[in-house]
Amino acid sequence: MTVKKDRQRNLPVSNRVVDLHLSAIKEMAMLSVRVEDAVSLSWGLPSFNTPQYICSGIEKALREEEDIGKCSSPDGLKALHEVVAAKHQKDTGVEVCPDENILITAGNMQAMTNLFRTLIDPDDEIIVTDPCFPSHIQQIKLSGGRPVYWPLDEDNDWELDTSKLPDLINTKTKAIVIVSPSNPTGKIFDRQTLVNTVEMARQHGLLLIIDDPYHHFIHENNDKYFNPASLKEMFDSIIYCYSFSKAYAMSGWRVGYMVMPASLKAQVLKVHDSNIICAPRIS
Ligand SMILES: Cc1ncc(COP(=O)(O)O)c(C=O)c1O
Repeated sequence: MTVKKDRQRNLPVSNRVVDLHLSAIKEMAMLSVRVEDAVSLSWGLPSFNTPQYICSGIEKALREEEDIGKCSSPDGLKALHEVVAAKHQKDTGVEVCPDENILITAGNMQAMTNLFRTLIDPDDEIIVTDPCFPSHIQQIKLSGGRPVYWPLDEDNDWELDTSKLPDLINTKTKAIVIVSPSNPTGKIFDRQTLVNTVEMARQHGLLLIIDDPYHHFIHENNDKYFNPASLKEMFDSIIYCYSFSKAYAMSGWRVGYMVMPASLKAQVLKVHDSNIICAPRIS
């Protein structure tokens, strides 16, 4: 108890939080606000503004929709579920049920927090690539879990090496997290390697979590990009999280969605409701 209090300089803060660090890019962003004309090399804010048609739509909704300022249903607006189901089918070829498989989130950060809190019992393990998006590490730790690092090698062009995966999996492992194109390397992971990864996850009863803010940013590499969420036969093993933040320059609007098996949505919804009730309806 004394040790704990010393560490927290007498604030009654949990060890779990004391042991976390504010992400370095957010710290840089906060510091840069104090410097006039600082060039931002910190977090990935879009270089363009939210498109005008989105802003006009919101202006109209503010004028005309009586309920715009109120909560939506916890899993999001029904009309948006329909649009997302159509978008997901266009993107992946997989048909999903708007009601049962889709949850509207306040962006992928919140989606991932939802998921880790849903999946993790104390000391459970989540496999993340190394390097990975640092917030995943924080979120896993904050949920009481342990990140396990799947090393990526620059000499192997930052590709996933599935031969290393079996050694990382044990009875505590719950899921593997994939970001493709990757943050921070920009790597678009190879199709067959991703298929092998989902198959291995499935064999071990693990989930594959896809955190996808970046699939629009593949430029001339269209033919290289593969979304594992398009593997219809693997639907039960995959959770797909999409963010509107980057592609639509809506990072401050906080909105995205998750596509997942119905049984899992029922569990995730409890966490979502307990921490945010619903994504911002206006967004
Ligand atoms: C891999 C990854 N996931 C999630 C996010 C944040 O997504 P959102 O703005 O939807 O919370 C980012 C970037 O900010 C990211 O790079």
